[in-house]
Amino acid sequence: MKIAKTLGLLGIAVAGISLVACKAGGDNQGLEYAPQMYHSVAYEPLTQIKDETRGEWLSTREDGKGEFFNSNIYNPHGMNMREPVEGTVPRNKEGYLPYRYKAFEIDIASANVKNPIKLDDEVLVEGQRLFGLYCTPCHGQGGEGDGPVGNIIGGVANLKGGAYVGLSEGHIFHVITKGKGRMGAHGSQITPENRWKIVHYVKQKLQGGQNADNAVVAEAGQESLVETPAN
Ligand code: HEC
Repeated sequence: MKIAKTLGLLGIAVAGISLVACKAGGDNQGLEYAPQMYHSVAYEPLTQIKDETRGEWLSTREDGKGEFFNSNIYNPHGMNMREPVEGTVPRNKEGYLPYRYKAFEIDIASANVKNPIKLDDEVLVEGQRLFGLYCTPCHGQGGEGDGPVGNIIGGVANLKGGAYVGLSEGHIFHVITKGKGRMGAHGSQITPENRWKIVHYVKQKLQGGQNADNAVVAEAGQESLVETPAN
């Protein structure tokens, strides 16, 4: 009887202690099972442990700091994430500025946006491949609006016909990026570079080069790209 009672009390005490030990909050992460599973090696923008000794008992780090220390030693206050410098404009890795024209601004885009990709045979081959992937289901192999999906939905533009032949390259780029009427926007599926390659292909191979941009072919230097909203 006595033994059972003692064991019972001991049980309650152990349970109590473990509950207290588990209490987490604020800077105290409580007791963790397999702690290395919780603490990211990479910087985490939303959590920050600035105490260099935290997790020393577990540490295998080369810099000798505690296992859980995860602040950026180069930033003020050890910040893991910094605000961009005021006036910073994001560019993609090719140096393009974001494409800011709205879907309805098609006429402005049509007049101002120029193809920054240099026209050559390789670009045309790649453009043809991409056109085959993204455009032929509706526009058909020859761009005449007779792809298998085009036959069902109807009303797909014949890129070789009538006024379409004279569309500016900026216009075609804008339509691919933002969509038009019953054609959906493809901006999120196709990178700007690839959209421009498709534009070259459409203009040169399907529309015989009418109203093409290649007179203003840009070397891929920054100066020309400054003018090129393309994302
Ligand atoms: C889901 C079917 C579909 C796909 C895929 C599609 N289009 Fe279209 N496209 C259309 C339809 C429908 C129209 C007619 C839009 C309207 O005016 O209502 C059109 C119109 C156009 C026009 C004429 C725009 C104008 O000003 O009238 C161009 C240029 C064009 N598409 C290029 C492309 C290119 C390049 C691709 C591939 C990246 C593509 N389309 C993919 C359905 C499609």
